[in-house]
Order: sequence, then structure tokens, then C-alpha cells
Amino acid sequence: MDNAEKIHRLFDRFERPSFKAPNRFVRSATWICGADDDTGEISAAEIQKHAEIAAGGAGTLITGLAFISPEGKSLRREWGLHNDGRISDVSRLSDEVHKYGSNLIVQICHGGGQREASVAEGNFSFSPSGGPHPTCSFDTTPLSKKDIRKIAEDFAAAALRAKKGGADGVEIHGGHGFLLTQFFSPSINKRDDEYGGPLENRSRIFYEILEEVRTSVGDNFNIWFKISIAEGTENGYGADDGIKLAASLLKRGADGINVSSGTSYAGAMNYPSILGVSAGESEAPFAEYARELKTCASENQIIILTGGLRSLPVMAELIDSGTCDLLAMSRPFIAEPDLINRWREEDSRPTACISCNACFKTAKDNKLIDCPILRDRNEGNWDPL
Ligand SMILES: Cc1cc2nc3c(=O)[nH]c(=O)nc-3n(C[C@H](O)[C@H](O)[C@H](O)COP(=O)(O)O)c2cc1C
Repeated sequence: MDNAEKIHRLFDRFERPSFKAPNRFVRSATWICGADDDTGEISAAEIQKHAEIAAGGAGTLITGLAFISPEGKSLRREWGLHNDGRISDVSRLSDEVHKYGSNLIVQICHGGGQREASVAEGNFSFSPSGGPHPTCSFDTTPLSKKDIRKIAEDFAAAALRAKKGGADGVEIHGGHGFLLTQFFSPSINKRDDEYGGPLENRSRIFYEILEEVRTSVGDNFNIWFKISIAEGTENGYGADDGIKLAASLLKRGADGINVSSGTSYAGAMNYPSILGVSAGESEAPFAEYARELKTCASENQIIILTGGLRSLPVMAELIDSGTCDLLAMSRPFIAEPDLINRWREEDSRPTACISCNACFKTAKDNKLIDCPILRDRNEGNWDPL
């Protein structure tokens, strides 16, 4: 097959018994700082952002992280799926996204000790064994076994809300330094019971959550996990352990693994939103992890690759070589919500995103996440690339 044909096939329908999508492109979970801080209600502006990306051709959208309980909230204006009042948010979102034929996967998360100071202020913050999170200055309370049980139940309840609202699945956030990473990290988790110590113990909460969520949503609803395959720190867990964790989740019935890597505290070079990715040169830094994991997946399980995907030839090769099944991007869609249509219809050059992470800074004054490139486009000043 020549390169043009390989690229063409990225836009073909993707079909597996448990998951069908109009193409291979996925919007990776992206917090856009748009929800109501008191109620966790999603805003019309946030729904509009998702609609633009679906209208722009992405076959599947993963929402920004949604907290499963008030104590699991991490970020300002983070969306909440912590009570039944929020089911209607999922309905509004899925109605919009489905209108364009795209899928909606809801990302659910517990932040543990990883919280912005303004969110933590005046509240208890929890973590596997207490102490401050590497990125935070406040103290945390160690979780009891009863608390851990409740967390699994909260994930299950949030997943059921996603299902009731019409989503096509959930993605459980198991990476980037949030609570589940804190359990898996040997440098953070100092427990001496069955949730700490050897790898099997540090993985236990993932297994319990999977089991509880599956019981709650049944067999015909997608459960994906996003995993940081390596923690990215000197004393943290390495890729061998991350692969073992992800492979065990597949063995225990997860429908998909979204391969990411690094954590919020691993420094610029091991941050999940890698700085300065260069199209064709430094793309897809986590591809090797996906390739290894693909050998552990059954035909019906899906490996999604996220992180530094920027150009069609690289992505076509990843699919052609069987490295992964779906291709997820975050920052490129902040810059260009209509990226997939642009690629399909007119201009196949790499995304205009330069991976500068300026988008993170735009949320500073509680504004919706934005991109200087997108602003230029909106003002008619955009000279593509
Ligand atoms: C503004 C912003 C918000 C993000 N929010 C989330 C999130 O809510 N959940 C998540 O798993 N990852 C989140 N990420 C990380 C991305 O999903 C992705 O893993 C990372 O940026 C690498 O992909 P990219 O190179 O295509 O941007 C966020 C990234 C950015 C830039």
C-alpha cells in the first residue's frame, strides 16, 4: 500500500464489535476550565467547544476530566459527575456530539492530593498515605480502606451517570499524577497494607474500580483507562511496570487502554503534554509503549495512542504497522477544532499546533482554554504554517 492509500484509510470507518467510529481520530481529554465552580455544571460554552470539534471531523471525543465526588475535584471550573443532577450535562453533550456522528467518551477522575490550592482550600484532601502531593504545598489525609471502597463506588456511580446520559463509554483517568497514579507510584504510596508495596498491591485499586464500574454499567458499555506508562521521575515506576498494569487491566476486561506517559511532577521533558513536538521529527514519543501493549490486547480491545501526534504520514504509519487502533490529540484541537476536515478535504499539512503549552496559561483568569493560533484565525490573521 502506498503512503497516500495509508493516509486515506485513517478516514475510513473503524469497526469493532464493541466500538464503532467514523474514523481513527480522537480528541484526547482536555480540561477547558468551563464549568460552574459551585455546582460542577458544564457550561454552554464548553458544550459548544465539543460541538465544534465533532463538526470539525473528529470521530470520537473524550471529555475533559469530570470529578466523581467533591473531594475528587482537582481543578478550577472542572466539570462534575458527582450527582444525578449532572446526568443532564452528559445528555446535552452527547446530543451535540452525536449530531455529527461522533462518539462521546466521558473521562472520570479522582484527583487525590493533586488539586489546585483554591480547590483544596478549606476542604480535606486525600491521598494513599498522606503528606503533600509533589506539585502541591498542602497536606493530605491518608485514605482508609472504607474510603477506598467508597472511591470505587463513586467511580461506578459516575460511570452509570455517563451511560444514562447517552455517552458511548467512560475513560477512567489512571495517569498524569492524579489519585490512581498516586497509588501506583512507589515514591508516593507508602502504605503497608494490601494497597501498598509490591506492584500487585499498588495496582489493586485499579482492579477494584474496574470491577465495580463493570458491575454498574454492564457488558455493553466501553470502559477505557488512561495510563501513564512511565511515571517519568527518578524514583518513580518505569515503563515495565506501567505495561504490566495496563496489560492486567486488559486481561481483567477493560475495553481499551489510552497510552500516555509522564506526570505533572516529572519536569518539562516527562510531562504528558510534551513541549516543542516537531512534526515528522519528534512525534509519537509513546508509540513504543502502545506497540508493546497491542500484543497483549484481544481483537476486540482498543489501544489508543495519545501524545505528540502531529502529522498524517506518521499517524498512517502507526496504524499500518499495527502500533495502535486510534489516534488521540489534545492541543492540536485547541488550535484547530476543524483539523480533521481540513486534513480530509483541503490541506494535509501537519497541525499548526507548535506544542508550546501557552493554552494552559490562558485559563489563568478563569477564561476558557484558548490558543494564540486559534485567536489569530478568529481575527483573520492566520497564515497557516
Ligand atoms: C489544556 C489541557 C488540558 C488537559 N486536560 C486533560 C484532562 O482533562 N484529562 C487528561 O487525561 N489529559 C488532559 N490533558 C492532556 C492531554 O489529553 C494529552 O494527554 C496531552 O496534551 C498530550 O497530547 P497532545 O500532544 O496531543 O496535546 C490536557 C492537556 C491540555 C493541553
